[in-house]
Amino acid sequence: MLSEIPNLLSQTDLADVHSQLARAEWQTGKLSAGAQAQDLKQNQEMSQSCQSWAAINQLVIPKLYAHPSFQSMAMPSKVSAAFISRCSPGMYYGEHIDNPIMGNQGARYRSDLAITVFLSSPESYEGGELTIHSTFGPMAVKLAAGAAVVYPASSLHEVTPVTEGERIVCALWAQSMIRDAHQRELLHELDEARRALLLSTPNAKVTTKVEQVYANLLRMWADV
Ligand code: NI
Repeated sequence: MLSEIPNLLSQTDLADVHSQLARAEWQTGKLSAGAQAQDLKQNQEMSQSCQSWAAINQLVIPKLYAHPSFQSMAMPSKVSAAFISRCSPGMYYGEHIDNPIMGNQGARYRSDLAITVFLSSPESYEGGELTIHSTFGPMAVKLAAGAAVVYPASSLHEVTPVTEGERIVCALWAQSMIRDAHQRELLHELDEARRALLLSTPNAKVTTKVEQVYANLLRMWADV
């Protein structure tokens, strides 16, 4: 399942982010690539020791974590720090699979879901589509600045070469309380039905019944 979160960041947030981007320090993305990704990863990443990196993380992570759609679809137990990636013309990130276990010893997490937050407006660069390969075929994603896409970290994906302009995104990963993707999706769909019932018929018996089933499935499947 691939889900979009439009307007995760407001125009004010984006203005803050862009002023941080202007003074950021960048380095080759190969520093954070595993052995297999060395040749595939032709991008730049913001240095995690620069002040802009910390400022952007402080802005983006709480917004993502608190977003009701993200909570419902991801049921996150852990959200990583953001890697901030830049592709100029000729840069790309070839087809790959993300590491299943990330983070440093003592702060490890399983990457159940991958999240890309788009920071550049789609009109400002050519190419640079995030292409996610699923059983339904490849899906090219290029969203408005401030929007995010959430997709299974188990999918093969790539960033096609940028041919003009500059593509800057935040990449994050989340470990979900619901490890199984199918169970997570069922809970998300049931949560949507439950929310609709709570709005339309809050006092009906069927609403209470659906609430009960949702709560008990969550109790059965969640690891906290
Ligand atoms: Ni990736």
